[in-house]
Amino acid sequence: MASLFGDENVMSNKQRGFHGIWRGRWTFILAATGSAVGLGNIWKFPYITGENGGGAFVLLYLLCILLVGVPVMMAEVMLGREGRRSPINTMRQLSHKYNAPRWFAGIGWMGAITGFLILSFYSVIAGWTLSYIIDLGAGVFTQASGELAEQTFNELVSSPGKQLAIHSIFMLMTATVLGLGIHKGLENSVRFLMPSLFFMLIVLLGYALTTPGFTEGWKFLFTFDRDKITAGSVVVALGHSFFTLSLGMGAIMAYGAYMPEKASIGKTVLMVAVLDTLTALGAGLIIFPIVFSHGLEPSAGPGLLFQAMPIALGSLPGGSFVGALFFILVLVAAWTSAISIAEPAIAWATEKGISRVASTLSVCGFAWVLGIGTILSFSDWKDITFLGLNFFDFIDYITSNIMMPLGGLLIAVFAGWLVSKEAIAKEIRLKNPTHLKLWRFVLRYISPLAILVIFAHGLGWLSFLGI
Ligand code: PHE
Repeated sequence: MASLFGDENVMSNKQRGFHGIWRGRWTFILAATGSAVGLGNIWKFPYITGENGGGAFVLLYLLCILLVGVPVMMAEVMLGREGRRSPINTMRQLSHKYNAPRWFAGIGWMGAITGFLILSFYSVIAGWTLSYIIDLGAGVFTQASGELAEQTFNELVSSPGKQLAIHSIFMLMTATVLGLGIHKGLENSVRFLMPSLFFMLIVLLGYALTTPGFTEGWKFLFTFDRDKITAGSVVVALGHSFFTLSLGMGAIMAYGAYMPEKASIGKTVLMVAVLDTLTALGAGLIIFPIVFSHGLEPSAGPGLLFQAMPIALGSLPGGSFVGALFFILVLVAAWTSAISIAEPAIAWATEKGISRVASTLSVCGFAWVLGIGTILSFSDWKDITFLGLNFFDFIDYITSNIMMPLGGLLIAVFAGWLVSKEAIAKEIRLKNPTHLKLWRFVLRYISPLAILVIFAHGLGWLSFLGI
């Protein structure tokens, strides 16, 4: 009886988790989609697609999501659900359980630090959307010229005071949700914000459909032109599939720790990847028709969202309203991502016995201070560089090109090579045994190799190949 009771206790710990469990599998899907859909989809995806020639790049990106993103995401969720703790303690516990070298536990540490660094600049860029919501709502861009849009953008990035204010507001919004905890904060916010996000996306898509450039935009995204594929664009597509699915830094592992025991990892992860991809394609279908309707260049680079959208929308009937709605969409997407970026570090601090509110204030507070560096790197610290990169570029570079791929590589190796087959079969539970074998094969060989390629490219080791 005693041992039975003991087993039940272990069971219920696994079922209840240490921080709580999402109300159902849909809550996990919404939370993980909230994490995945962010500035990466709406700001980065359209401009890198523009820079890499449209349809050919989109196809590569879809392949990367399917062949690398989905398998690695399944691995992260699996490890998270098995450990049921913050990524730091999950990796510590699992490295011990599977006799892995101790430094594998460092995956969790690196993830928490990566999250803290990403949050510092993510909040600054997300803060810009607040300024655009206000300006568009106030009609600043009605009939605006290209110069005015450029001037407005430059004025914003060269004003530390204004940026500090909006960075602070965004960080406060993020901290409020995080401080309220998993159920009252995260769960309630994604349940409300994600459907609103999809609703706004559909309204904006309907609007884009009425613009004269829609067919051209559609063709740009979906016409496959083999000549446009270069080795460089393969690497960009692979790197972006990591960033957009929030992989390699523990955000998805942390969310996996709150996933109900019964939910199927394969099905839910596939759903998240599909929703994330549809949002990126949707954002492209909103942005490119508007860009083409105004004779703008799709390859305008990072300024595409913040400079082209306001000019394009400001001159259309009802454009100020649609424009404000568009930037609210970006804000919501960034908000639900920012929450997940900080969660690994906060979950770890609460396991140390620090209250949720104090943990949140410390993590968000430090990231807020570090964000000041990003703000200044657009003005007063513009010329202060390290390895040729200013403060913002440096943090963006080390997180996206080094820390996330390295985390992803270690996660793939750990889940593919060190976790026992039995444990995998127990967590993954794919009905078709061939699917399970295929997944394990991809995780053991394809994903690590692909990540090594991105990594080598990020460090410039492939320059001898001309990429
Ligand atoms: N996936 C998010 C985006 O596309 C960014 C992100 C990275 C979120 C890492 C969580 C962790 O914007």
